[in-house]
Amino acid sequence: MMKILVINGPNLNFLGIREPDIYGKETYADLCDLIRSHAQKRGVTVEFFQSNHEGALVDAIQAAYGNADGIVINPAAYTHTSVALLDAVKSVGIPTVEVHISKVESREEFRQISFIRAACIATVTGRGFQGYLDAMDLLIDKKGKKA
Ligand code: DQA
Repeated sequence: MMKILVINGPNLNFLGIREPDIYGKETYADLCDLIRSHAQKRGVTVEFFQSNHEGALVDAIQAAYGNADGIVINPAAYTHTSVALLDAVKSVGIPTVEVHISKVESREEFRQISFIRAACIATVTGRGFQGYLDAMDLLIDKKGKKA
């Protein structure tokens, strides 16, 4: 069975508390529940990892090597700063989709750069929690096809 690793970066454990006007009122646990039920529907296995620490996120990506068939990642603020996360995704060579809950392209200038994007097969923004499910579908439906 296909296994997808869902990685969330800094402050996403505070979903429901942090800036609800931007990120919504639902919690990180609600997000995981939503993803779990979508995984069940699509017949895939899902694993979760969340950290506020850049190196821990690098470790999680490396640990996925030989272990996961796809990665859905919301690197949060590290999107805009981290060459290490870009290099980690390139290193493992696992098909990866970048997700942002908010529509980053309509926000501040400093959110316009994404280092990780260059290593991702797709980016989903501005679709709220649904964006994670869209990202899963992109990974599932590309299986067997060439990236
Ligand atoms: C975010 C957008 C980032 O700019 C921000 O730093 C986040 C969340 C999003 O999901 O919309 O923490 O990745």
